[in-house]
Amino acid sequence: MSTWKATACANANIALIKYWGNRDDGLRLPVTNSISFNLDGASTTTTVEFAEGQSGDQVTLDGVAAHGAAAQRITAQLDLLRARTGTKWATRVVSRNNFPMAAGIASSASGFAALTCAAAWALALDLSERELSCLARRGSGSAARSVPGGFVEWYASERDEDSFAESIAPPEHWPLHDLVAIVSQGEKPVGSTEGHQRAQTSPLFQARIAQVEADLPLMRCAIGDRDFHTLGALAERDTLMMHAVMLTSQPSLLYWTAETLAVMRAVRAWRNDGLACYFSIDAGPNVHVLTTQQASSTILQALQALPAVQAVLACNVGGGARRTDEHLF
Ligand code: DP6
Repeated sequence: MSTWKATACANANIALIKYWGNRDDGLRLPVTNSISFNLDGASTTTTVEFAEGQSGDQVTLDGVAAHGAAAQRITAQLDLLRARTGTKWATRVVSRNNFPMAAGIASSASGFAALTCAAAWALALDLSERELSCLARRGSGSAARSVPGGFVEWYASERDEDSFAESIAPPEHWPLHDLVAIVSQGEKPVGSTEGHQRAQTSPLFQARIAQVEADLPLMRCAIGDRDFHTLGALAERDTLMMHAVMLTSQPSLLYWTAETLAVMRAVRAWRNDGLACYFSIDAGPNVHVLTTQQASSTILQALQALPAVQAVLACNVGGGARRTDEHLF
């Protein structure tokens, strides 16, 4: 039996100016650009093997066979890759996160970036980073940003082939830290895909778009100048604006818990005491605490001492998706 096999490893990412709302949900074409950095402490490794004569994709995520909607979403992504070569071969996919998948820290970003790259490399497709980013975007929007390394911007466009992410600074440009305070390990009740579809129902949606357009050049400058307080203040406000859209969507989305708020308040108190820290929150209850190399160990200890915090995942700025020979089967 003939097989084609490859393994890819991709990092999750944290958005500083976030993606919330599509102009085209099917193609995952966002309404605005977004800016993020990759998280070296949170990665997904995925091995994809196309095998002649196999019937149906067999997918195992963190040791558990995928079925239902999760399996369909992966097969739909593999179909995009299969269409590039005309092959009908089904796959065996084994994927492993080095962080708890239920922790809600963008496993779809690292997951779809690794799946897309592993499948493309297994098929020996000669794709540029830009093309891989576009394809990863079709699986999960934020996955477009996990293909390139370091600090990354994903461009909004009306055209599929123009909505890709690229690196705006390498990881070594600035050793920022993201301390992810895990306050809940449960599955979130409403996923991002449904959330994006609700975004435009909020009366605050257009206001946030206007703010994002104003903030994007400021964020690029803050990264270029390594200006932590400008970066943190912009990121924290963008988080609050995105959650204001979520809260005022129909139906309303409330991702915060009492523990989320406890960490938000603690971060503000530490900042008032002169520590360099700002919060960022995605579509879930956990809190990313953005901080500097100098303040990181103090903040880590302070977070671990909070009763609201179950665990802290410490991340530095990470690289892009890469190929590895360490196959998972
Ligand atoms: C709040 O990329 O998870 O994390 O395209 O439906 O998979 P899908 O959505 P997803 O949305 C991410 C939303 C966010 C903000 C961000 O990462 O930019």
